[in-house]
Amino acid sequence: MNKKVLKAVFPAAGLGTRFLPATKASPKEMLPIVDKPLIQYGAEEAEAAGIESLVFIIGRAKRAIPDHFDKAYELEVELESSGKEKLLQIVQNVLPEEVSCIYLRQAEAKGLGHAVLCAKPVVRDEPFAVILADDLIKGDSGRGAMAQMVDVYDKYQCSVILVEEVPPEETNKYGIVEVTEDDGETAIISSIVEKPDPKDAPSNLAVVGRYILTPRIFDLLEQTGTGKGGEIQLTDAIAELLKFEKVRAYRVKGKRYDCGSKLGYMEATVEYGLEHPELGEDFAAYLRGLACTPGSKASKE
Ligand code: UTP
Repeated sequence: MNKKVLKAVFPAAGLGTRFLPATKASPKEMLPIVDKPLIQYGAEEAEAAGIESLVFIIGRAKRAIPDHFDKAYELEVELESSGKEKLLQIVQNVLPEEVSCIYLRQAEAKGLGHAVLCAKPVVRDEPFAVILADDLIKGDSGRGAMAQMVDVYDKYQCSVILVEEVPPEETNKYGIVEVTEDDGETAIISSIVEKPDPKDAPSNLAVVGRYILTPRIFDLLEQTGTGKGGEIQLTDAIAELLKFEKVRAYRVKGKRYDCGSKLGYMEATVEYGLEHPELGEDFAAYLRGLACTPGSKASKE
């Protein structure tokens, strides 16, 4: 019988150096976009894709993630006794009750591949999703990226990796794939390489933070040595996986924000702010005012 994707792994043990000092004592994945932390957007995306268990890989200074998904007794009592019903609902409904959360520690930040390998004892022999919450993705027509990918997995029963075309000069920031049998939506990956120099890159199709992987990846990760940047790279294990199984690339229908970078984070904040049901109009008026203020930076652009 074909197995369903029921578990999602959230590697969240990176050092987040691009956001220091904000990430000194708090994980990057807890940075809010308007009023919700990145990790909650990721969890909601997984839940909307039918995923039942969320496996968080956490490191030092990551207590805020388990705390966020846990019950907050004192806060709830306080909100209830002061009649703040709406806020109480928000706090109590961070995740639906039927979704379970599992927390595993990655003692040392040895790389994304190593973080994913930490999930092996929980995921075991099932296909599973990997969600990098700092890649925030707004799916078209409200359909999340992971739900789209699960459809592709259900159809082809093979690993699926989310890709996006990036400017050719930026290939050295991403895993880059070479594909065949490209129908414009999905394609078969023929090779994958971590952060190639633009002159060596096989294409400009970049891996962005969503994967559905078959469990064979764990055996391959166990044999993967350190790669680019002295880290155990998931990309290197996927390159090995290609020797045994088909792996498909899927182009997301939606927009991705690279919230691991300051600029991407600010773009997401502005765009989600403009769409926010309570803030949107006032925020748009504020931005228009800024653009019209003589001498302001926004008016000069
Ligand atoms: P990044 O490449 O964004 O690294 O990791 P980082 O450490 O989080 O951030 P910078 O580059 O120093 O600013 C990609 C994803 O892999 C996770 C991160 O938490 C992020 O979700 N990761 C990375 C781990 O869980 N463990 C690691 O050892 C490395």
